[in-house]
Amino acid sequence: MANDLAIDGGRPTVQAAMSDSWEDVTDVERSFIDSVLDDIGSAYDQNDLFEAEYRSFVGTKHALVMCNGTATIHAAIWAAGARPGKEVIVPSVTWHATVSPILHCGAAPVFCDADPETYCIDPKDVEAKITDRTCAIVATHVYGNPADLDALVGLVEGTDIILIEDASHAHGALWSGKTIGSIGHIGCFSLQKSKPINAIEAGVATTDSDDLYDRMLAVGQYGRCGSLWQTERFKELKAMGLGVKYRANPLGTALARAGLQRLPELNAKRTAWYEKMDAHIDGIDGVTHQRTYEQARRGGMLLYTGRVDPETVGAPTEAIFEALRAEGVRLNSQMLYGVMHLQPLFTDFSFEGLGGPWGDPASDNRAPLEAGSLPVSEAIQDTAYWLSTPVDPDPEWVDQVGEAFAKVASQGDRVAEWYRDR
Ligand SMILES: Cc1ncc(COP(=O)(O)O)c(C=O)c1O
Repeated sequence: MANDLAIDGGRPTVQAAMSDSWEDVTDVERSFIDSVLDDIGSAYDQNDLFEAEYRSFVGTKHALVMCNGTATIHAAIWAAGARPGKEVIVPSVTWHATVSPILHCGAAPVFCDADPETYCIDPKDVEAKITDRTCAIVATHVYGNPADLDALVGLVEGTDIILIEDASHAHGALWSGKTIGSIGHIGCFSLQKSKPINAIEAGVATTDSDDLYDRMLAVGQYGRCGSLWQTERFKELKAMGLGVKYRANPLGTALARAGLQRLPELNAKRTAWYEKMDAHIDGIDGVTHQRTYEQARRGGMLLYTGRVDPETVGAPTEAIFEALRAEGVRLNSQMLYGVMHLQPLFTDFSFEGLGGPWGDPASDNRAPLEAGSLPVSEAIQDTAYWLSTPVDPDPEWVDQVGEAFAKVASQGDRVAEWYRDR
């Protein structure tokens, strides 16, 4: 019968192939790369050109391209004055690169819980954790879904706290019609290969502030910074800056310029199938999709994600996921990265004997949290699914994945029984 579960030998619901040619190199990428190779002496112009294009796209006064997204977070946190004695508030539902640069600055990460429906940092928990040592808040727009920027901007207004948007997954997302990366004091974007704009490796930071821009220049743009200083603060350092180099490889930047050109198409295509998939999921008891705040429009959209409710379905989470995989859904359980507050780097990994301030136990600013301390983030982690996320899938694939969710969720008792007896 059509409704027989695949775990019971029924025909798997997903028959359409999930092929996607988005990552194939097109003439657009080739022409940008060729223009670098044709005039290698002017290669670094790519970085200036990309920055001009990116600041115009985001709508900020400055854009600074770097060797990767992690470097942009480090530069942003450093620019915010993160140092021993200071705290930086971060989500736990994110990638470690949102957090690890805080340790490199000698400051303390303070983890916050998440909103159960958007999976982004919970502004109420942020408010509760602000102290007179807080120098920055980093909000990740998880998988391209904007965090509650009205609430977060409200928390930092009239204070010295720097709001950093980790927009690594959210190129072209909007908040109340404004482009993500222009609402906090600094926006940080990864341009790594899996991201909506792909330089293979690069990142870009955006800001309206001359002061923050100069600080980010100082951190990692020696050679280049001498002609770019906006204020007097670092001018005596001339082109040396602080002597470390996070500069981007112009070949990658050229690829990113092509990606920026193709971004509106990527966002339109992903938006179309996400909306269709959301409509399928909305009709199913016990399965939800990541919710978007009213003011927000998703962009970039790294991964399609949602949660299952094992109580409502009547089967354990892993049983539901197994049954979905049997139906042909290329489904991954849990959030891509896990929850950060329980990772050894942020709990009990020993820094003893290492370089810099890390090697001195007196400088260890971590305040380890235990399992159960961020219950919403941990519940998201335990019940989340994400799908392999194409740009332009066969419409049949979208419908069939939706049908597979409906089929499995409506037969929870049988899924539970199968899982028990396996
Ligand atoms: C949320 C988030 N922030 C920062 C980064 C770091 O970016 P990159 O890999 O370009 O260093 C990533 C990379 O996956 C990320 O997902």
